Amino acid sequence: MNDIISPNIVWQPSIVQRGDREAQNRHGSCVLWFTGLSGSGKSTLAHAVEEVLHESGCRTYVLDGDNVRHGLCGDLAFSEADRRENIRRVGEVSRLFVEAGMIVLTAFISPFREERERVRELIGETDFVEIHCHCPLEVCEQRDVKGLYQKARQGLIREFTGISSPYQAPENPALCINTAEMSLLDSVGQVMCFLQSQGKVQCP
Ligand code: ADX
Repeated sequence: MNDIISPNIVWQPSIVQRGDREAQNRHGSCVLWFTGLSGSGKSTLAHAVEEVLHESGCRTYVLDGDNVRHGLCGDLAFSEADRRENIRRVGEVSRLFVEAGMIVLTAFISPFREERERVRELIGETDFVEIHCHCPLEVCEQRDVKGLYQKARQGLIREFTGISSPYQAPENPALCINTAEMSLLDSVGQVMCFLQSQGKVQCP
């Protein structure tokens, strides 16, 4: 993408910097990147963690796959190229949120390792927290909250992750949460403990 940026476009520096915003917020900014199959609990966990962070005074925002695909990424479908573009855009938006001093929580299948690594590079290793919502396909399919797995099995949805499109699990995530076995409360606790251990948020 960068190679098509015109030489006539010059970066405008900010007077107020990320550090100023973080100091005002009294916490650091980062991205909590939830990845996993559809129905693995990414959104549920991201929103539950956001609630706890919000209640403890942190500035937060959840970028959710289904919602973002209603607007910013409404022109994208589920081909490999479209999914890569989806994640590229979300990565860029997340970077802006980090600059804005916020804790951004993203809930996207983000099936390709390469794309997630690109976002990690864009955001920087220390501010990118990859969280794998690990849940066996059979369990996701059994839950089938949106009825999409059934449609995918019937051939009504093409390129469905886990059925007819691949999911590449993270090899070395900051956290791997087994959402099939762990309660939501304990999962939230695990994320909060990790954030505290990393000094991202203070203990209450
Ligand atoms: S991603 O692969 O590009 O990261 P994203 O997280 O934005 O996907 O969107 C996934 C959501 O779109 C799923 O939770 C599901 O509700 C819906 N969806 C619709 N079609 C598909 C499909 N072919 N594969 C996966 N999810 C789909």
